Amino acid sequence: MKKNILITGASGFIGSFLVEEAIQRGYRVFAGVRSSSSRQYLSDPAIRFVETDICNRHNLEEMLLQSAEKYGPFDYIVHTAGLTKTMDHFAYTRVNFGGTQNLVEALQNTRLVPEKFIYISSLASYGPGGSDKKPIDPDAPQHPVTAYGKSKLLAEQFLYRHENFPFLIINPTTVYGPRDKDFFFLIQSIRKGVELYIGNRNQLLSFVHVKDLVNAIMTAMESDLVQTKRIVSDLSNYTAAEMNGTVKKILQQRTLSLVVPAWIADIVAVFSEYAGNLKGTVPVVNRERLKEFKAANWSVDASLTAALGYQPLYGLEEGLRNTIDWYLDNGWLKKQVAGLQTRPS
Ligand SMILES: NC(=O)c1ccc[n+]([C@@H]2O[C@H](COP(=O)([O-])OP(=O)(O)OC[C@H]3O[C@@H](n4cnc5c(N)ncnc54)[C@H](OP(=O)(O)O)[C@@H]3O)[C@@H](O)[C@H]2O)c1
Repeated sequence: MKKNILITGASGFIGSFLVEEAIQRGYRVFAGVRSSSSRQYLSDPAIRFVETDICNRHNLEEMLLQSAEKYGPFDYIVHTAGLTKTMDHFAYTRVNFGGTQNLVEALQNTRLVPEKFIYISSLASYGPGGSDKKPIDPDAPQHPVTAYGKSKLLAEQFLYRHENFPFLIINPTTVYGPRDKDFFFLIQSIRKGVELYIGNRNQLLSFVHVKDLVNAIMTAMESDLVQTKRIVSDLSNYTAAEMNGTVKKILQQRTLSLVVPAWIADIVAVFSEYAGNLKGTVPVVNRERLKEFKAANWSVDASLTAALGYQPLYGLEEGLRNTIDWYLDNGWLKKQVAGLQTRPS
């Protein structure tokens, strides 16, 4: 018998890859979406859709009961739904913390607690590491610097208060890969010849390619790990200059390198928020986001991730090649250079 898995936030960047990975691993996959959610990347006929608005507790309980009656209870839940961009800072708490609370309490009220509940949190819930450049210590007190990071930490703390609940928290570092719109912004700016740094070129960063992340999540889910958390990266750390240099190399692009002082970035963010307000969009550069962009140290200690038994397929260069190829193939990036082919021949 196939095991049932519910993936909330299935319409999103990470959620859509989780759905693909779960199908490949032989699960009966339920994609938790809202009626307004895009299904662009959820076309596999094996997918069953369930309405999962995590801000509506009553509907969640109904969905859980109806689905259990028809297909049996969910054996696993990967709770990926979350708010990553908004100018309404209270909304982060309402969705990321409140939505997690709703889902957990709905599972308890309906007595449909799964074998394991994976919560996709974020490295942002830790906040950046210190100026000593030591990696973020997963056991040290967490100090998120943004409303987003704080809402993810609240959800983690809520789970830790439930001693008998079989949760596992995954804290991905910056995730990139095909379909991702945030990283696209950075790649597009290098394509336009601008290599941007905020504060300095030696900011320490950590990344994970989305396909490696979903593999790590499923590996952790199928392991004995429970009531604990794991940071997931590609097992390396990079400087901002190394990351930009890799994109330049792949795109064969010459750039103008600009190191913008933090106070100028703040002014730019105010203007971009104003423009976003007029257009009704959330700008990539906003004052809240800048708090993370400005932090000097997002390096992580990969030893606990490696202990999961997960081996990433993508280092940063291979991962970026794969991502840029997808942007080119899907028309997000124009092939400016005649015959530009990033795949090694
Ligand atoms: N991308 C990263 O670099 C990164 C790094 C660390 C952690 N994370 C975490 O990973 C998760 C997924 O991130 P992502 O990059 O895939 O973001 P995304 O593309 O914006 O996807 C977010 C998903 O959450 C759903 N969602 C939002 N509010 C909801 C609600 N009230 N009820 C039900 N579903 C709701 C969205 O549904 P709609 O399509 O209907 O809006 C969408 O499916 C988030 O929890 C995020 O905090 C992401």
